[in-house]
Amino acid sequence: MFGRNKKGPTAPSSGLTFQRWIRDRVEAEDYWFQKIPLFDDLVTPGWSDPATEKEPYFSVPGDLTGKRVLDIGCAEGYFSFLAERKGAAEVVAIDSFPDSVRRFNICREALGSKATAYLCNVYDLSPKTFGTFDVVLFYGVLYHLRHPLLALEKIVSVCTGTMMMQTLIHEDPALVDTAMAKFYPRGHQSGPIEESDNDEFFDPTIFWVPNRTCVVEMVDSAGFQDIERVTDDPSIPFVIRAKSPIIARGEAPDQMKAPWS
Ligand SMILES: C[S@@+](CC[C@H](N)C(=O)[O-])C[C@H]1O[C@@H](n2cnc3c(N)ncnc32)[C@H](O)[C@@H]1O
Repeated sequence: MFGRNKKGPTAPSSGLTFQRWIRDRVEAEDYWFQKIPLFDDLVTPGWSDPATEKEPYFSVPGDLTGKRVLDIGCAEGYFSFLAERKGAAEVVAIDSFPDSVRRFNICREALGSKATAYLCNVYDLSPKTFGTFDVVLFYGVLYHLRHPLLALEKIVSVCTGTMMMQTLIHEDPALVDTAMAKFYPRGHQSGPIEESDNDEFFDPTIFWVPNRTCVVEMVDSAGFQDIERVTDDPSIPFVIRAKSPIIARGEAPDQMKAPWS
């Protein structure tokens, strides 16, 4: 960690101030997804601003005091740090992309956060490895998955409370009551709306884009209960809230039964 001298914290073995060191690390990254305020005059230069585009619609529970929270597909950690500010006792974040975890850790240092990010695929979630969670945040990941039902089954295995989920949807007005998903075998355009013709924002990791009915049916099929659509307003992100079939306090993994023992 950081040494302290009379002028404030310094990076190890250098004269850099802590803030300068963080700023240099932010600038050294050639890509940021999320805008995350780090200091009064430093925000990560992501193209997506979760504070205005997501948080107002994603229904993150207001009070997370004492909760174990899992943030799946955390990217640079916006929702992990938000959960911590809302009182979570422990925040575990996972992402399958190594660069996300590295950038998360820059933000974690800057914010003095205790949230921990692991390089982990949603398919590798298991209560033996990660324990169980009171709240699972599953935002913006479903449509990136080749195996969405498998992912939901893994999530229900670690959730003993509430899952909040947001996904891109594709709705055919003639088939709103039919559970269906559009398959993109070779990816789909992504990025900011104003860049919709920019090939730089083509995303080869978009596979299945379901309609609203399909989202609810998949979540139900995986074993969740009390599934609620937060809203059906097509102008805002599609979010659902679902309960685990077993409601219990989230627990850290039991090291006596850990898979490495
Ligand atoms: C669109 S971003 C959403 C980030 C954040 N949850 C949000 O809503 O702002 C999708 C994230 O999910 C991650 N991801 C994609 N597939 C994944 C998988 N199979 N397991 C875990 N993370 C995954 C990506 O690396 C990326 O960081």
